[in-house]
Amino acid sequence: MKKYLALFMATVMSACLLAGCGAKEEAAAPAAPEAATVDETASEDQTADTAEAATGSEALADGVLTVGTNAEFPPFEFVGDDGNPDGFDMALIKAVGEKMGVEVQIENMEFSSLVSSIGNKIDVAIAGMTVTDERKEVVDFSDSYYDAVQYVIVPADSAIAKAEDLNGKTIGVQLGTTGDFIAQDIEGSTVSSYNKAVDAVNDLLNGRVDLVIVDKNPAQVFAGMYPDDVVALDGAQFGFEVENYAIAMPKGDAELADAINKAVKELKEDGTFDKLVAEYIEGN
Ligand code: ARG
Repeated sequence: MKKYLALFMATVMSACLLAGCGAKEEAAAPAAPEAATVDETASEDQTADTAEAATGSEALADGVLTVGTNAEFPPFEFVGDDGNPDGFDMALIKAVGEKMGVEVQIENMEFSSLVSSIGNKIDVAIAGMTVTDERKEVVDFSDSYYDAVQYVIVPADSAIAKAEDLNGKTIGVQLGTTGDFIAQDIEGSTVSSYNKAVDAVNDLLNGRVDLVIVDKNPAQVFAGMYPDDVVALDGAQFGFEVENYAIAMPKGDAELADAINKAVKELKEDGTFDKLVAEYIEGN
């Protein structure tokens, strides 16, 4: 994960210099796509797979799959050296698009805007997004492709170790995430929500929050940026449950769902999926 550290340090430092690392005020800012990239690698001479693109799915009618993400969640998505979203989810969805014979176009936006943008601004979203009952009222989810759990980032000398220790604390989270929802439910908590989880970690460093709740792999990346100052604790010790990541899709588009699920299944069977896990998530 070392390469993400350097990249993140640079990004965070320049972002803080330019804009400062504020908390709540920023969280209320309207969502705007920050960058868009066109996948130039999608091959044009698809033969056998092209049939899938001609499904009845409206989303695929133009041959372009517009995919929303929030590239603030390493190693699943982050802004790469070239300024474009990179990471496991980006590599996965591009491979899915290739299998389906469609061009993949990425829209980087606020995490909290993703679900409501599906079916209008974007076709689908891939963003380390956890399947929840509330989200299922608005969107459909693909088959789950990865398991996670919330982690707790605390100062290195903190005594926080079990569920009761979280009561009454000021908790930093990324707005609209499952970490946010868990924090709201903790007894006596004060929740500070940020558009970027890394800004919550910065406020942990300067003492504005007592702890940060964020998904396991990003927590490990963020904590790894400040190994002398913070530690990332496994949420299982606080009773947090396993979460399943899946691609969020428009409600009721069975053709699109089938095509995406089929593509992911094929990528699992042909070894591509494991290769991407090794490269982006387990690779150091
Ligand atoms: N898994 C959490 C959720 O679904 C956090 C995802 C945040 N993802 C991101 N790309 N910022 O709420």
